[in-house]
Amino acid sequence: MAEGDPFDYTMEQKRENANLELSLLHTAIDEWNHLKPSFIVITGDLVNAFPSISPELRRKQLDDLKHELSRIDTNIPFVLLSGNHDLGDIPTNESVKQYVDEFGDDYFSFWYNGVMFIVLNTQLYRNNTLVMDYYEQQDRWLDQQLSIAINENYKHIVVLQHIPWFFNNIDEEFNPIFTFPMEVRKRIVKRLYEANVRFIFAGHYHRNEYGVYGNLSMITSSAIGWQNDMGMVPNSKSGYRLVSVTNETIHHEYIEIGRSPSHANGLQMRTSFWIFIITSSLSLLVYLPNLLRFKI
Ligand SMILES: [Fe+2]
Repeated sequence: MAEGDPFDYTMEQKRENANLELSLLHTAIDEWNHLKPSFIVITGDLVNAFPSISPELRRKQLDDLKHELSRIDTNIPFVLLSGNHDLGDIPTNESVKQYVDEFGDDYFSFWYNGVMFIVLNTQLYRNNTLVMDYYEQQDRWLDQQLSIAINENYKHIVVLQHIPWFFNNIDEEFNPIFTFPMEVRKRIVKRLYEANVRFIFAGHYHRNEYGVYGNLSMITSSAIGWQNDMGMVPNSKSGYRLVSVTNETIHHEYIEIGRSPSHANGLQMRTSFWIFIITSSLSLLVYLPNLLRFKI
């Protein structure tokens, strides 16, 4: 969503929807604790309120979010990414600092079982007019990481980010809210591809989309909360993505909240693969009544 609040609902409606989103997250966490993934990734827009517009509301939403996240099994790490709702559509040094002070680094790499994960702050590629130095800092760091990716022998190199470079095809039309302009999209995706990145996971769109560039997969996952009905029918329900990693490849499946327990039981038998969870844009307390049509 763009910065600002175009939704004019009563406080009662907002509270009702906030409670529904909290209950969706609550159920999802029960399922994650049962699935026992190696880690959980939340790909940005940790809550809905923008820091520069509604700081008090954002504080309340963050407190609610942290209260729920504290229920995640302490043996399961989680990885947080920043989105446009966390940094503002036009990030500033102050909004970045606020995020880093609250949640830690906004771009970083980590390694698990021979797989390299590169976390990007895509907001810096989206609008860096007020943070040019910081944008250049991340871009130089990315070069270093891609050099490591090329020179080391990892099983897979995976990029995690908030805004997808594209939905289905790198040549598709630019979506001014949800993807990147052609120039930056092609420049960065080519760099990633040449460094052997073959899987990119993103969120932001509140819909599921699957794209390819050569043999690189660009996977956009929907959200725990609001499902995108801006001029179209949602193609997903509230959920998260279950990612299974083998030495050879990475499989992934979008799971609707409330439908994973039987699936999870089977996964307890896993021996030749490991799993992690991607969930996008919790959009916690996004306050949209269309959530109410999803039964869990
Ligand atoms: Fe977003």
